[in-house]
Amino acid sequence: MPKTLIEPFRIKSIEPIRMTTRAQREQLLEAAYLNVFKLRAEDVLLDWLTDSGTGAMSSRQWGAIMEGDESYAGARSFYRLEKVIQDITGMQHFVPTHQGRAAEKVLFTAVCKKGDLVPNNCHFDTTRANLEYLGIEAVDLVIPEGLQPALIYPFKGNIDLARAEAILEKEGARIPFGMITVTNNTGGGQPVSMANIRAYSALLKKYGKPFIMDVCRFSENAMFIKMREPGYENTPIRDIVQEMFSYCDGATMSAKKDAMVNIGGFIVLRSDEWMDGVRNGLIMMEGFPTYGGLAGRDLEAMAVGLEEGMDEDYLRYRLRTAEYLGERLDAAGVGFVKPTGGHAVYIDAKTVLPDMPVAHYPAWALCNALYLEGGIRGVEIGSVMFGKRLADGTETYHSMELVRLAFPRRMYTQSHFDYAAEVIAEVKQKAASIRGVRITKQPQFLRHFTCECAWV
Ligand code: F0G
Repeated sequence: MPKTLIEPFRIKSIEPIRMTTRAQREQLLEAAYLNVFKLRAEDVLLDWLTDSGTGAMSSRQWGAIMEGDESYAGARSFYRLEKVIQDITGMQHFVPTHQGRAAEKVLFTAVCKKGDLVPNNCHFDTTRANLEYLGIEAVDLVIPEGLQPALIYPFKGNIDLARAEAILEKEGARIPFGMITVTNNTGGGQPVSMANIRAYSALLKKYGKPFIMDVCRFSENAMFIKMREPGYENTPIRDIVQEMFSYCDGATMSAKKDAMVNIGGFIVLRSDEWMDGVRNGLIMMEGFPTYGGLAGRDLEAMAVGLEEGMDEDYLRYRLRTAEYLGERLDAAGVGFVKPTGGHAVYIDAKTVLPDMPVAHYPAWALCNALYLEGGIRGVEIGSVMFGKRLADGTETYHSMELVRLAFPRRMYTQSHFDYAAEVIAEVKQKAASIRGVRITKQPQFLRHFTCECAWV
């Protein structure tokens, strides 16, 4: 058997990549104030800023788009998608939203109140921001293994059940529901095991609390369960997905991930109880409940994408892609969060730039170096993103200096990954010449998106 796992698709429509030279990229990055968020996408060769809404749709999805029913109320496209979602999730109630953070906002506004507390393995940024905006405490309870980048463990996204029980015991009155995020994006795209989902569900039931899952990457999580959790080796992905959903009472979804579309999201709920509030909020914030901020054609593309995202050949190739880049990084002596997650590789910048002081933002510096060397755009998850400049001018720093390379679905081929591995190895070779930055201008919140920098 040949050992190369090929991309399980062929390419019908292409989008050219505009080649640039290093000299051009130096100018472009200077003009962007050394912040890759400020680059034009056409000046990037491999755009690995995010896997969200950036993937390639299939010919079946493009075909379905022509079937879109754009009726305001009761569109055929809604009922088609509803049937797919009811089958996958086993849940009765579904409303579309324009993306994941809108699903969060509508659900939280309907069912939470100021002073509440929500436990999760790790809240994604928008989930945390939507809760905190409403005066709700967002508590992260991932297992200790999930916080050690170099440690190999099969389910580093699991929630710490003992800590979850302690908080249910102590703060129960403040908890409207428990959450879990599959896969755990904030913790490196790491999966949650079925055993952990089952036990967390039982725990929440014991305390009379509903269970809401953030299911952006549910198919990737299901494939990890199939590959790593004893007893699931021969279980079809659809059955694993259905079992995952069987343990929860509701879910929020960003369809820009495992539903393989460029825009979209949804809320599903098992019982009627919360649905009236959700529908009322949805009408104000998103749209009528049968379109929820999307066009009918978007609903059609999502109905097909959800099915395609559960295809095992696709998922095997998808997870192998990240693993393959990880092997190449290992060979080059570059550290990263292990094992590789489903949608991204998180490089540990301290292993490339061990001597750079954190005050010069090593992960930001590595991001810039990857762009200059090879036109690759990743995202810094380090002290620019999570550090702060205090009123007295001093800085706080983040515990880790990571660069996330997140892979759009069905878009890049193996040679793109080979190229990236060469660029990263080259950057490591030249580490001594890589320059750190200082921040010259920054807003008060979310400074990484818009800050301006200069070389130190
Ligand atoms: N939950 C998780 C786990 C996510 O990763 C994201 C988005 C969201 C919710 C919000 O969904 O973007 O559709 O509003 N993550 C993207 C990323 C942005 O780059 O990781 P959205």
